[in-house]
Amino acid sequence: MDILSSPSPGLSGREEGNQPGSPQDPTLGAAPTSHRLSVLSHMTEPTSDGPVHVPVLAEEVARLLGGGRSEQTLDGLLVDCTLGAGGHSNLLLGRFPRLSLLGIDQDPEILSVARERLEPFHDRVQIEHARMSELTDLIASLDEAPIAVLMDVGASSLQLDRPERGFSFAWDGPLDMRMDPRRERTAADIVNMWDEGDLADLFFHEGGERGARKVARAIVQARRRTPFKRTRALSETIAISLGKPVRSPRLDAGPKKGGKKGAIHPATRVFQALRRAVNEEAEELEAGLQAAEDVLAHDGRLLAISFHSGEDGVVKRFLLDGANPDGPGAARWDIETRRPVEATPAEVRSNPRSRSAKLRVARRLRGQNV
Ligand SMILES: C[S@@+](CC[C@H](N)C(=O)[O-])C[C@H]1O[C@@H](n2cnc3c(N)ncnc32)[C@H](O)[C@@H]1O
Repeated sequence: MDILSSPSPGLSGREEGNQPGSPQDPTLGAAPTSHRLSVLSHMTEPTSDGPVHVPVLAEEVARLLGGGRSEQTLDGLLVDCTLGAGGHSNLLLGRFPRLSLLGIDQDPEILSVARERLEPFHDRVQIEHARMSELTDLIASLDEAPIAVLMDVGASSLQLDRPERGFSFAWDGPLDMRMDPRRERTAADIVNMWDEGDLADLFFHEGGERGARKVARAIVQARRRTPFKRTRALSETIAISLGKPVRSPRLDAGPKKGGKKGAIHPATRVFQALRRAVNEEAEELEAGLQAAEDVLAHDGRLLAISFHSGEDGVVKRFLLDGANPDGPGAARWDIETRRPVEATPAEVRSNPRSRSAKLRVARRLRGQNV
């Protein structure tokens, strides 16, 4: 396989740094429902070359990927459905010399970072701009059943920290939030066009925002005067509607000293809910899990990392249904992590954003023969 060449549209990954108070801030334990907000799967760490993405639970992923097969004997195709900056894939390709990779991501800007990073492995790598829900068609065109499918769902700091992408209340930018530019609907479309009840339901169910009704009402009133176009106007409206001060988001609390939970910016939950709706994250996760089941080789493994308790619940239920020998048809999955794998205290200390990460691994029974 050969790495695809395409121009890098100016996203180096080296200019980025995480800021406290981004929507994925891990200081989210106070979410009122099971809908805890997601955190980034990695943080950017400064090195002599600039910040580098640190993938979460990477050693655990490497350990569980091959079900005990050694570095020399693990042989076959890994599909990384959420390639991002290529952090996990870089580690795995380096560790397992006989592994090849199909890396996909819905964000073409991020793929340019991954292409550069994975260049040393170019003869074992194929990179495609695609969504998880498109995986089955992609694999059909390859004619090779993967031995592992990895998903590390959510957003990347390379998206969240770029004001022009419109994810962040920490800087002003267009109210966009699309990870995949093929999508037509932006966050502004939702905020300006959905009715008040639908907005309230979205903020409550997808963001866990207790003040969802107040926020929705304030948005509908404000947009009658001027439709929302920018992130700052929206985050100020949210803060005011919740009776919170409009303050510099950059001063908002991330984790407090000693890793204790701090306050989050008042717009955090609503921004999270909008991001999930714009990118249809719930639907994509369901479709990605089903695609993994459809394409995996017999004995192949699914490794799913999630950061949102709602998403972890979806993964858990999907695997439990497929592992049930009394369900319709024979069991399709053997769950290898009875409880989700979580970051060690040492990883949380070095990468606080790993705090909410949960990894579930299952082996495909009765998958495709390779
Ligand atoms: C948390 S980051 C992945 C980081 C990556 N594992 C690493 O180590 O660098 C999540 C990535 O998944 C991508 N993504 C999210 N949902 C997706 C979907 N449904 N299909 C394809 N890519 C998706 C995002 O664009 C983002 O780049």
